[in-house]
Amino acid sequence: MTDSRPASILTQADALLRKNLVFQKRNIWSNVRLVTIPFFLCLLLVVIQLLFDSQFNEDHGQCGCLNEKTCGLRYSTSDQAAFCAIPNPSQWTPLLQIPSPQYRAATTLYLSLSSPVTFLFTGNNQSLGETLMRNMYSNSPEFGGDLANYVLGSSSLPAYTNYMDSSFISDLPIYNIKHKCSPNSSFSILIHQPPLSFPKEITCVRGLNLWRNSTFDVNKELFKGYRKGNQEEKINEYTAAFDFQNTNGSRLNVNVWYNSTYKNNTVIRPMALIRVPRLVNLASNAYLEFLKGSQTKILFEYIKEMPKPETKLTLDITSLIGPLFFTWVILLLFPVILTTLVYEKQQRLRIMMKMHGLGDAPYWIVSYTYFVLVSILYMLCFAVFGSAIGLNFFRLNDYSIQLVFFLISINLQISVAFLVSAMFSDVKTATVIAYIYVFGTGLLGIFLFQFFLEDPHFPREWIIAMELYPGFSLYRGLYELSQSAFAADYRGVNGMRWRDLGDGMKEVTCIMLIEWLLLLVSAFYIDQITYSSKHPLFFFLQTPSKKKQHHYSNKQISKFVVEMEKPDVCQEREKVEQYLLESTENCAVLCNNLKKVYSGKDGNPQKLAVRGLSLALPQGECFGMLGPNGAGKTSFINMMTGIIKPSSGSAFVQGLDILTDMDRIYTTTGVCPQHDLLWDKLSGREHLLFYGRLKNLQGSVLTQAVEESLRSVNLFHGGNGDKQIRRYSGGMKRRLSVAISLIGNPKVVYMDEPSTGLDPASRKSLWDVVKRAKRKGSIILTTHSMEEAEVLCDRLGIFVNGSLQCIGNPKELKGRYGGSYVLTMTTSEEHEQEVEKLVHSFSKNAKKIYRTLGTQKFELPRKETKIAEVFQAVEKAKKMFPVVAWGLADTTLEDVFVKVAQTS
Ligand SMILES: *[C@@H]1O[C@H](CO)[C@@H](O)[C@H](O)[C@H]1NC(C)=O
Ligand SMILES: *[C@@H]1O[C@H](CO)[C@@H](O)[C@H](O)[C@H]1NC(C)=O
Ligand SMILES: *[C@@H]1O[C@H](CO)[C@@H](O)[C@H](O)[C@H]1NC(C)=O
Ligand SMILES: *[C@@H]1O[C@H](CO)[C@@H](O)[C@H](O)[C@H]1NC(C)=O
Repeated sequence: MTDSRPASILTQADALLRKNLVFQKRNIWSNVRLVTIPFFLCLLLVVIQLLFDSQFNEDHGQCGCLNEKTCGLRYSTSDQAAFCAIPNPSQWTPLLQIPSPQYRAATTLYLSLSSPVTFLFTGNNQSLGETLMRNMYSNSPEFGGDLANYVLGSSSLPAYTNYMDSSFISDLPIYNIKHKCSPNSSFSILIHQPPLSFPKEITCVRGLNLWRNSTFDVNKELFKGYRKGNQEEKINEYTAAFDFQNTNGSRLNVNVWYNSTYKNNTVIRPMALIRVPRLVNLASNAYLEFLKGSQTKILFEYIKEMPKPETKLTLDITSLIGPLFFTWVILLLFPVILTTLVYEKQQRLRIMMKMHGLGDAPYWIVSYTYFVLVSILYMLCFAVFGSAIGLNFFRLNDYSIQLVFFLISINLQISVAFLVSAMFSDVKTATVIAYIYVFGTGLLGIFLFQFFLEDPHFPREWIIAMELYPGFSLYRGLYELSQSAFAADYRGVNGMRWRDLGDGMKEVTCIMLIEWLLLLVSAFYIDQITYSSKHPLFFFLQTPSKKKQHHYSNKQISKFVVEMEKPDVCQEREKVEQYLLESTENCAVLCNNLKKVYSGKDGNPQKLAVRGLSLALPQGECFGMLGPNGAGKTSFINMMTGIIKPSSGSAFVQGLDILTDMDRIYTTTGVCPQHDLLWDKLSGREHLLFYGRLKNLQGSVLTQAVEESLRSVNLFHGGNGDKQIRRYSGGMKRRLSVAISLIGNPKVVYMDEPSTGLDPASRKSLWDVVKRAKRKGSIILTTHSMEEAEVLCDRLGIFVNGSLQCIGNPKELKGRYGGSYVLTMTTSEEHEQEVEKLVHSFSKNAKKIYRTLGTQKFELPRKETKIAEVFQAVEKAKKMFPVVAWGLADTTLEDVFVKVAQTS
């Protein structure tokens, strides 16, 4: 015989795991599709990178050289200079940075374009200072010659490097600064920069030198001149300022103010120090001239950068847009997990498994581990493929950091799915919401969250607050990894390593870790409240005290009800009370005044589904529950199987209280619910194997039990047992449900209308199955078929409006409620009187219930009627007048049912 111990947690977990694996095997194609998504996204990234490379990262794209690697400044752009190899840099005449005409100080005095460029001077010795001021650009020749002789400047912005001074190429003029412009002090020269050679206009501009009394004054004026935002404020930009301090005949001591923040409307670009040397040179020359006269000067011919090799711009574009893609890839698992969980809930499979003994712990452990395994597999595919295809994100960062981060994030994601699944009862809604979450999070991440992240002024606390949203914390982690990969690729350093783990990464990992644990606990807690119908404070409540209270109140209530009940029901109630006093274990099922009230919704009154049911079911009995639709039979079964909680009353299954010991009760019960709760993708055999394992069947016993089970419900032949449930007809599903409820020989089996939708042959074989099962345990069965009830049930209860109207074995009931025979006799019309007289002769209280054209029906009270007398009377009648037809019938169960249902 089978082992009657309940299955251990391991056995249950094993059963569930096997079931899930089979389920996944059936789902193989959608799994393959799922795994290909990261492949496709990675491929897409690679394609984008290739496109980007071909456009920007290739040599000829930047350097402008189609054939040679080094091409100097053939196509003179500063971009070109930035990338090409420049083994022999050009020489550039040093320039001053001059403000654009419209911004120059003292504009109002002069025509805009020829506004003078203004210098400020100060020092300890004003007379000396003024001499130096005059010497600044006094002796430049009127026309032509070496450019080093002129004081030149430009208002176009310099580049970072001076491989090429764009001022000479731009449309803006080169200014020649003089004390006074004569008409021929503007001229054109030929700029020769191999391989380029082009003319350039040199425009004369007046220099204005202003003496200020102190350093403080200079500073104040420069500050006032600084460009202000509003329109009224005058913009006074100065070219430069000199402070000669304590300069005298034997020493030169000079301070130079220069402006490094030149910008135009689109770019802010620090003016490199490129334009400073000439300022210093001017001051030195002025001093030299003061000492030695105007013939002596230091010619500043040119400045020149050092040679450089070709540089390559390699922008790792995939690392930049990576976070968006990778967020999607990882989040894509979320809908998958969520829908699986919600599916089991929507199809009530979770309850079904629970009713057959699957404990919460194994369910949680297995489902959780299972999702973790699936996720790990998925992530592994992703990382391996990403690395193989050469994505820097994977290659450059430390793999162990990635591993830890991904592990935490998938665990967090699974906990979120568990938590969220409590809110949904419909797969479709859950799917839609989950996908919105996936894509919304990615887009919000790149367009909003990243924007905040990169804004140094955005408060860090807010960032942390945003990271509490799991999607953003994931995004942040991926962002940090990408940034490291990008920097590593661009600057040729290491990617993220443990020892230089950034603050962002640490922060986000901590947040995720803590959040994961918290969410997991709350998900479990919510699950316990919803599925195990435990009290919200179940951790703190102690069950024994609760049990006592129940007992006490039940006794009180039962006193009121007794008065109005039928004697048989009353007797059953007394029997129950007797059992309660002695021992509850002797009964398979013992219900004491069980009630269920559905609270009124939307203004409807309360509904009393079950009003005080008392029932004692001995071991091995098959109890049939008859009753019209909506009488409360299913509510009763749901209460007994723990799907809903009784409003009051108590019940015991094998001596275990359904309020407190449901988990143990489940190991000894089987349920065939009214609606088939089956997995579409599994076969009948797999269902039976799963539930059999839950019932602690193992090895050959299990296989044998499953075979027998399939055979007994006619699902064995024609490979029906191995077909998936979605190919089953309604009747086949029904039979499978019955087989499931019986596998493992449970002590108590509930069957809610097991034979609906079955053809007569299947029904017959089903009955045989139930009859055999009766020998091993008790059965509670609801049905609408009187025939079935009569064949299968030892006792029947007719249940109307939530309470038992009568209870007893079929014969008793017929006797009690039928209590009569029906005699039908057909003669010609003139003999009707005689028939009636004859009937009354052997049954004084016979009642005529029907009469038409000589056919009459009489109800004969069973007590005063002997069948022999009826036969004798009919014989007598046949002799007296012709009898066309006659018949005597016992009342059927159907009559009883109709009668009971009508009178109550
Ligand atoms: C200022 O400089 C001049 C030379 O330009 C010199 O003669 C004079 O003594 C100096 N004044 C002072 C106060 O040092
Ligand atoms: C500078 O000082 C002299 C006298 O020391 C004074 O006359 C002149 O107004 C001052 N200039 C300015 C701009 O303050
Ligand atoms: C320095 O340059 C910036 C940018 O062109 C300008 O806004 C500012 O006014 C300049 N400062 C002075 C003192 O000229
Ligand atoms: C600003 O500088 C950039 C780059 O030097 C240039 O392309 C652009 O035309 C300039 N804009 C203005 C308004 O000067």
